[in-house]
Amino acid sequence: MSRAVVLSIVVHTVALLCPSIQMERDHDCNTELDEILNQISDLEKWRAIFNEHRNRDSSDQATFFQSSTVQFWLELRKYCVTERPPEKAKTDEDCEDSAGKPQSSAKERQGLTNLLPAPYSIPRTLAVSPSLGGLPITPELAGNLRRILFGNTFHVFNYEWKKSFFKFREPYSDLSYALEAEKGGSRAIQMVVQANIIKYLLFTCHNNSDGCRLQSLREVDEKEQERALAAALTDILWAAGEERGVTVSLVTSGYCFTPHLDYKLDNITERLQLFSFNKKKDVRSFIYEHIQCFKDEGSHGVILFLYSLILSRTITRLREDLDCTTSHLLHLSLGNFGCHQALMNLLLTGRASPNVFNGTLHYGEDGSPLEKPLHGVLARSDVGYLHWSRELLERNQLPMVGSMLKTPKLPIWLCSINGTYSVLFSPNRCLLSDWKMEHLFHLYFYNGQLTQQSTALLTVDTHSHHWEIGVKDTQGDPEKRFPSVEMTIRTKWEGAAIDWNNTVPFF
Ligand SMILES: *[C@@H]1O[C@H](CO)[C@@H](O)[C@H](O)[C@H]1NC(C)=O
Ligand SMILES: *[C@@H]1O[C@H](CO)[C@@H](O)[C@H](O)[C@H]1NC(C)=O
Ligand SMILES: *[C@@H]1O[C@H](CO)[C@@H](O)[C@H](O)[C@H]1NC(C)=O
Ligand SMILES: *[C@@H]1O[C@H](CO)[C@@H](O)[C@H](O)[C@H]1NC(C)=O
Ligand SMILES: *[C@@H]1O[C@H](CO)[C@@H](O)[C@H](O)[C@H]1NC(C)=O
Repeated sequence: MSRAVVLSIVVHTVALLCPSIQMERDHDCNTELDEILNQISDLEKWRAIFNEHRNRDSSDQATFFQSSTVQFWLELRKYCVTERPPEKAKTDEDCEDSAGKPQSSAKERQGLTNLLPAPYSIPRTLAVSPSLGGLPITPELAGNLRRILFGNTFHVFNYEWKKSFFKFREPYSDLSYALEAEKGGSRAIQMVVQANIIKYLLFTCHNNSDGCRLQSLREVDEKEQERALAAALTDILWAAGEERGVTVSLVTSGYCFTPHLDYKLDNITERLQLFSFNKKKDVRSFIYEHIQCFKDEGSHGVILFLYSLILSRTITRLREDLDCTTSHLLHLSLGNFGCHQALMNLLLTGRASPNVFNGTLHYGEDGSPLEKPLHGVLARSDVGYLHWSRELLERNQLPMVGSMLKTPKLPIWLCSINGTYSVLFSPNRCLLSDWKMEHLFHLYFYNGQLTQQSTALLTVDTHSHHWEIGVKDTQGDPEKRFPSVEMTIRTKWEGAAIDWNNTVPFF
């Protein structure tokens, strides 16, 4: 390995880091740079290491060179991250909100991307070795993945998606069961996984009374978080694979194929390695063994899970699930890719039906037969779905969620509120199987946002119907006066009175 190569890496690194540091913080740029250069002057060490390995054969050298470079980058990145001023973290948050203020945040994001050498482009440590087995992806399959996701082969996941992974909040805290959700389209997927994590912690892994169950959400340590995530991902994939077979995709080091001309490389899809299983427990232990590929920064965890979901459902079955209203799973909205309802239904029910009503619709509103039937939800799933949006309501376009989704097997609901996703749940397993339980009960609410510091407790009273009292004296639409979560709950329990246990309604 020549010195020139090593030096050129260093020069490249500094060149990459400098402009962004200057841009971010002009005043103390020089001290920053000195620090970095100091670290780099450790180069003697690297040289020695390289020299030591000079006589290895060339392929060996290449591998060694890669891993050393990665370490080197990681060192630099660690430096950047630890030295990051507190307001940087906020910039990170803000710039996700690209819809609101595209100009400034795009610039900030650029700065940030430069400062932290794009974590997703170097995580060889998160890439599995090709010797792990499995099958490399074929160019045909890569093209089909693109088409079923985007409707073509030249769209690729944007930065928001690439940086998304499954990140838990503080272990042993009030929210130790909770994932931090992004603001973009990947949030939808994170929140369905969140619902399944709650399912595991409340109803699968323990056999406790309601009170203890709730406690089990607060006492989650890091290992248990990982087990819960593995169980949640497995449950969703297993349902999509019709409880027969699942394919998990991970990223390997190195490219698996040379793409066709019309295929745009994205550095992830071409490197997929596919692992197939036909026993649920094997899927779960495999995912658990490689949980860092889903929960570590730079893992592209959400994308890998989405690919696994599609591969487990298979492209053929997906095409059968869809109907003439939806031809692919993601849609472009406000510069980001959002999830079509078909993808949400695939995550919730294992079948990518594009509509939220029950069953299959053969007739139009006027009673005449439809040329092609519309596909709705055929069976109840563990996790349900509620939908409310003031905008759609005002335009009279709020979809009527059918009983299959509104009344799931377990009292956990993914909620779509104004187009963002959150979860409502109850620790009372029998809530939906005994109508007397539904007179007066508690629901817990988590919206995935960092601003939420504890799980909200709502008391739902379906008996007294007093929520409209007081509304009559003030003119105007009651739906404008009530928090969105309440309106969402009332799409299932009509007219229910909802109490926020002395806290200020925040959503
Ligand atoms: C859970 O507890 C109930 C009684 O409280 C018992 O009947 C049931 O078998 C237990 N289930 C498991 C899986 O331990
Ligand atoms: C993919 O990685 C290569 C080098 O590893 C880099 O040059 C290229 O910009 C990356 N492409 C994307 C789309 O990230
Ligand atoms: C489907 O939903 C409708 C109303 O949304 C309901 O009337 C019907 O009974 C449901 N069918 C089944 C099989 O649950
Ligand atoms: C409501 O909140 C108070 C604290 O403000 C708490 O002590 C009480 O247990 C809560 N109510 C219920 C039903 O959990
Ligand atoms: C939903 O949108 C309406 C206006 O369209 C707004 O008043 C309401 O606060 C929003 N709810 C949430 C939770 O963002």
